[in-house]
Amino acid sequence: MKLYARRVLITAGPTREYIDPVRFISNDSSGKMGFALAKAARLAGFHVTLISGPVSLETPSGVRRIDIISALEMRRALSRESKNADIIIMAAAVADFRPSQFAKKKIKRGIRLPPRVIRLKQNPDILAEICRLKKPHQKIIGFALETNDLQKNALAKLKSKGCDFIVANKASSIGKDLCSVTIFSANGTKTSLKNMPKKKIAKRTLELIS
Ligand code: CTP
Repeated sequence: MKLYARRVLITAGPTREYIDPVRFISNDSSGKMGFALAKAARLAGFHVTLISGPVSLETPSGVRRIDIISALEMRRALSRESKNADIIIMAAAVADFRPSQFAKKKIKRGIRLPPRVIRLKQNPDILAEICRLKKPHQKIIGFALETNDLQKNALAKLKSKGCDFIVANKASSIGKDLCSVTIFSANGTKTSLKNMPKKKIAKRTLELIS
């Protein structure tokens, strides 16, 4: 395999959706899986670009890193970078909603005010968007984070988003070093990797998709 001719684009970590300059909506994603994938891809000889949300992880050696904060920033970075990629792996836990308004000044506590309501608006489904623009030589891999009905929900996402593979994992694996995943392909294959360090899961996942 001529690995040096191949470019991998990986997203990792959470996104943050700011309510005011000091408060945001986000999730517990640590970015460990995306960073492990970036490291494994680099070690396998790929050119790797990593688009990362706010995480406290070191950039793997030889990996080009682009930092973003919000889902809309991640979408902009992906639309710029995805054209050049042969493999795109969406390991990021993108926030599905953002506040419909951003308050430029810190919202004051206002103890005598009635409880505040934060209105939310839906973020774009970035994975579905890039799958719609997929070029014939590209492979696109999504993740499915589930609290229940793992297989059913992951297969539904594989189909509705239109990716080549979906890596299904349980929400309880967020932030952990060990996890179990099941990888479903659009061709109907199913591979289970049980209770392994994310580093090992990353290596096996890359072998499977490339
Ligand atoms: N994803 C995305 N854009 C979003 C939400 C998710 O690109 N706005 C991507 C994630 O990076 C992941 C896949 O879609 O690769 C599935 O994400 P997940 O959070 O499991 O599912 P959702 O699509 O958000 O659906 P739901 O929240 O209903 O489970």
